[in-house]
Amino acid sequence: MASFFFTFSLVFHLSLFHGSSSLPTIGITTAANAPPQPPPPPERIASTVTSLNFQAVRLPGADPSIIRAFAYTNTSLLLSIPNILVPPLAANRSLALGWLYRHVLPFYPRSRISLISVGNDVFDSTPDFSPFLLPAIRNVYLALRDLGIKKVPVSTTFSFYNIITTSFPPSSARFEEPAGSLILKPLLQFLDDTNSSFLVNLYPYNMYRLYSEIPLGFALFQDFPFNFRDDLVTGVRYKNLFDMMADSVVSAMAVAGHVNTPIIVAETGWPSSGADSGEVEATRDYAEIYLKGLVAHLRSGLGTPLRKEGIAEVYIYELVDKEGKGNRSWGILHQNLTKKYKVEFSGGFKIGRFGGLLMLVAVHFSILLCI
Ligand SMILES: *[C@@H]1O[C@H](CO)[C@@H](O)[C@H](O)[C@H]1NC(C)=O
Ligand SMILES: *[C@@H]1O[C@H](CO)[C@@H](O)[C@H](O)[C@H]1NC(C)=O
Ligand SMILES: *[C@@H]1O[C@H](CO)[C@@H](O)[C@H](O)[C@H]1NC(C)=O
Ligand SMILES: *[C@@H]1O[C@H](CO)[C@@H](O)[C@H](O)[C@H]1NC(C)=O
Ligand SMILES: *[C@@H]1O[C@H](CO)[C@@H](O)[C@H](O)[C@H]1NC(C)=O
Repeated sequence: MASFFFTFSLVFHLSLFHGSSSLPTIGITTAANAPPQPPPPPERIASTVTSLNFQAVRLPGADPSIIRAFAYTNTSLLLSIPNILVPPLAANRSLALGWLYRHVLPFYPRSRISLISVGNDVFDSTPDFSPFLLPAIRNVYLALRDLGIKKVPVSTTFSFYNIITTSFPPSSARFEEPAGSLILKPLLQFLDDTNSSFLVNLYPYNMYRLYSEIPLGFALFQDFPFNFRDDLVTGVRYKNLFDMMADSVVSAMAVAGHVNTPIIVAETGWPSSGADSGEVEATRDYAEIYLKGLVAHLRSGLGTPLRKEGIAEVYIYELVDKEGKGNRSWGILHQNLTKKYKVEFSGGFKIGRFGGLLMLVAVHFSILLCI
């Protein structure tokens, strides 16, 4: 019995090893700082991000001077176009060309622009713009090709809460209707046709706050005896909330007929202080546990239960704390750019999947010896 278990585990983990090619990219979001505080100079932002060993950076403002500052670094850039530009971009392809002339053409490929997101959570902040989403994305895509740039995909970013019906259990998750049929389905088809990715902001912190029955350790990647949830439909056991939310996206996409579209988590994180005193779990200790758990989970190469190749890229929110009481502090750095947490964010190529495999084999082997 014991040796059967050992053999089974070995085969199972070997298949994981062969099944996927690389670990998720770990990136960071640099948000525009709240006035009146002046933002750090672009060169300082670039050197800070590279010294923290992030492989990727997400620039919500797509500030040209910051894009330039990342030239000749190996950090890839995810640019985000502000929501306000979605309707004009949908109406006018020359406007899309104009945006690319300012934000991409002068810097690419010296700055490794990897993807352009047209809008961020348009459903929530500017729902009237939703019908313009795909036409705007298409115009940016076509304008890039007009310029001869073939390797930069285009997408948009959604927020988990505004598109997914439920995550209990993940297999029953669907896209909210009518947006699912009207907007997400045609968009997913476009993403598949153009080799692009599905981007979603995913915050276990917010989910944990909404549902009091979720154990804190489950949201914080902690491996306690009762920190799991079973999906009785798929027979899958979830050991953390992040995977449960990610697999809800995987399920909703599968029901919509798209099983292979890569998924990028454009924002995730845990605040070190809340907007008010009611947010008792917004502490530096919990934030550090979340970030450590997230990075270790991504580096393990295990993917999510429903998607062995896992999430393609994950961007932590955010680099620097915003100013002002009454705002949550999401930064991994204080406003003076000193570190808040002892977390090593590098992508973990060296630990790699094979190292993980050997570790798992060692664990199973010791179980065998004990028996
Ligand atoms: C970027 O990566 C290449 C190869 O992976 C390496 O040779 C080069 O030194 C790196 N550049 C920087 C600035 O880290
Ligand atoms: C499209 O945008 C360009 C550049 O901003 C402008 O010159 C042109 O008039 C616009 N066309 C329409 C139909 O709005
Ligand atoms: C998508 O990727 C496949 C495989 O790499 C390639 O053959 C195809 O031409 C790509 N399609 C586009 C639109 O880039
Ligand atoms: C929170 O930050 C935003 C800028 O991101 C600022 O406009 C707002 O005034 C801040 N809120 C408080 C309560 O300080
Ligand atoms: C940076 O700011 C943090 C939080 O305000 C403070 O605790 C720390 O002492 C500061 N460090 C330096 C070097 O100024």
